[in-house]
Amino acid sequence: MKVNGKAYRSIWLAEDGRTVRIIDQTRLPHDFTVVDLTTLHQAALAIREMWVRGAPLIGATAAYGMALAMAADASDAALERAHEVLVATRPTAVNLRWALEEMRARLAPLAPPDRAAAAYGRAAAICDEDVEINRRIGAHGLGLIEAIAARKDGPVNILTHCNAGWLATVDWGTATAPIYQAAAKGIDLHVWVDETRPRNQGAQLTAWEMAGHGIAHHLITDNAGGHLMQRGQVDMVIVGTDRTTARGDVCNKIGTYLKALAAHDNGVPFYVALPSPTIDWRVTDGLAGIPIEERSGDEVSFVQGRDPAGCVTRVRISPEATPGANPAFDVTPARLVSGLITERGIAAATASGLAAMFPDRAGADGGAISGRR
Ligand code: MRU
Repeated sequence: MKVNGKAYRSIWLAEDGRTVRIIDQTRLPHDFTVVDLTTLHQAALAIREMWVRGAPLIGATAAYGMALAMAADASDAALERAHEVLVATRPTAVNLRWALEEMRARLAPLAPPDRAAAAYGRAAAICDEDVEINRRIGAHGLGLIEAIAARKDGPVNILTHCNAGWLATVDWGTATAPIYQAAAKGIDLHVWVDETRPRNQGAQLTAWEMAGHGIAHHLITDNAGGHLMQRGQVDMVIVGTDRTTARGDVCNKIGTYLKALAAHDNGVPFYVALPSPTIDWRVTDGLAGIPIEERSGDEVSFVQGRDPAGCVTRVRISPEATPGANPAFDVTPARLVSGLITERGIAAATASGLAAMFPDRAGADGGAISGRR
């Protein structure tokens, strides 16, 4: 997508063909800063510290992290070590494990001198595949927006949570791909952007994306969505996901579940946009089987923003003696999900719906089981 008229992806290679470039998302919306990653450990740091975040981009960065590792040392031991370091960076988004398993399966059979070039090639392909997958998700989701637009006067009001935008993927975004494609077709749209405490990915990233693309939007507190739905001011919800199970349970940023409950109570369609690498075919029961990242309580106790002097600063919002608790994701049961917008079409959030959409993938890895293996 474009930033100040220039086309960007969220991750790309520098002119030397080896250095990996990312946007430091912790500095948005106040500063647009490009960071060079030249080592495995820098790639791991970028994921852990959330300079890059969002399930598909975490996977893409991990793939390039493997390539950086192979460029330095392509031995069997280095391959295993790179996998071990990167897989430990963040626990919930399954795209991380997916990308690392893809890379290891591709590289392990090769002779060490061939591994670095193959790693860069596969990482680039993973990025290109993500862009194409999201473009297709956009085309399928566009149909849902068009159907609402056809039966109402005024803008289609879409509520989204966290940032499942182009910054969370390599390009297009998942939840935002239908929004960008609808806007390009001239459909009258308006987006309610949940601020998404504690880290405010909605306020800082989704709002920045919407403003940058001239899409009508308002930032709302995380608590406002239910009220807006009761008043008929939300036509549909579209969110992303960090891991969706074989039966359609959806793990996404904390607070997603409450939006799904409110949507269900108010008859508002609740859609989840996801690329197929976000499906964890090894897990059926999302509550039992998905590890929920526990992040620092400081993310709850402090907020970051720009002060009147223009400096980006952090301020404490609670008493020093009050600890913050910070589960970063929650699980929305499949029964609350109206549909899963995938690159192949809109699947029912059921085991049979997903298996029918992905007959070539369902049952892979030994098939889905209850809980986690
Ligand atoms: O903690 P984050 O910022 O990595 O969480 C991101 C989300 O929850 C996104 O909504 C999700 O990854 C979908 S991204 C297309």
